Amino acid sequence: MTGAITDELLGSAAAADPYPIYAGLREHAPVHWSERHRAWLVTRYADVAAAFADKALSNDRVRPVLERRRAAGEPDAAPGAGERVLAMMADWMVVTDPPAHTRLRRLAAGAFKGQRISAMDARITALVDELLDGLMGRTGPLDLIAEVAYPLPATVIATMLGAAPEDRDRFREWSDELALVAFGAGGDARADRHERALAGLREMDAYFRELVARRRAEPGEDMLSALIAGREGTDALDDDELVGMCALLLFAGHETTTNSIANGTLALLHHPEQLARLRAEPELRDAAVEELLRYDGPIKVLNRWVVGETSLGGRTISPGERVHLVLGAANRDPERFADPDVLDLARSPNPHIAFGKGIHACIGAQLARTETRIAIARIVERLPRLELAAEPEWKDALASRAMEQLWVYPEGRP
Ligand code: HEM
Repeated sequence: MTGAITDELLGSAAAADPYPIYAGLREHAPVHWSERHRAWLVTRYADVAAAFADKALSNDRVRPVLERRRAAGEPDAAPGAGERVLAMMADWMVVTDPPAHTRLRRLAAGAFKGQRISAMDARITALVDELLDGLMGRTGPLDLIAEVAYPLPATVIATMLGAAPEDRDRFREWSDELALVAFGAGGDARADRHERALAGLREMDAYFRELVARRRAEPGEDMLSALIAGREGTDALDDDELVGMCALLLFAGHETTTNSIANGTLALLHHPEQLARLRAEPELRDAAVEELLRYDGPIKVLNRWVVGETSLGGRTISPGERVHLVLGAANRDPERFADPDVLDLARSPNPHIAFGKGIHACIGAQLARTETRIAIARIVERLPRLELAAEPEWKDALASRAMEQLWVYPEGRP
């Protein structure tokens, strides 16, 4: 490491603006073993893209933990609430490798296709407008995340899974509880919060089981009915897998989409000339979503475990080690993007990897793009005097790029 470079990806400086840190690593130490993170930090676009195709890098990371705990006979490895949640997460396609991954992905992809996301514009627009109606006439400041970006994705996925509208709030709570259990909690995490999360997830489990039973008896047009039917009726998911799939779709699509809407809106407020351009040229909407995802996307880092010797950027990587693929750095690599630190809503081509790449590439990308496009377009259209009320604080997290709140004046500073 040379003088000014740091590999500290946590802490207040990195949370506020990780991009100078990424740039230092990308330029001077693009495949860097970090003692601090006990992981290889991979920051160049070409290396991250190569890593996505490397079979020596594995996503299978929950099942080994479960097996180790069971083998060690740890006290809470007896089938308690914690272990049941872990066992459910072990079925999530995002933490499996082929062949288990191939089967889960194929079944989920079939169900997504049936949803005809391209035909969902009207439904999503109505949901966004309902949330924006709640802001009208208010002078603020108010938190655009709490009011719009946070409630939208859980509502959309609840609707897609065929849940009743009055159950939407519980979906949001479950999504937070899943995040707490999946990632552990931040510094203020206390055992009682964890316990409460597990209790909430027991409710979620019961809820999804009942929903599965209902849809089995009376199939509808929803995604859960499609998942139950399985691909051409064969090789269908069992009840445990169906419950796990519902939880994964809720979990994987919630915080990410919230942050995609929130980070995108903030980037526009920081770049008034780009915001004005979007208002003047609404046909830029699709390209704008891609650029906002590239510029400050919701996922900064993805994790992989090394299961076979391999090499990345000329460095030898050994089994048992861990790799952090720094998407936030790759998406601003000057080797791949001209003027990468400039927000250019008309950028083309824009081969960003905010949704990953390869066999695990985001299966909800089309839905996420649709939600982000509609939310941002409606915010821009319906709040022409929207103004930032305070610079946000960012969550101190390695993987997600997330603000605590986004305080705005919806109708301009009074
Ligand atoms: C802007 C919002 C989103 C972003 C930035 C995002 C990003 C990602 C990324 C980077 C991956 C790859 C993970 C890896 O390689 O380890 C991924 C996978 C996944 N995403 Fe998304 N996602 C978003 C929204 C959604 C939505 C709305 C859903 C579903 C409702 C969803 C469901 C999934 C699932 C199930 C996977 C696992 C796919 C697999 O393992 O084959 N995501 N997402």
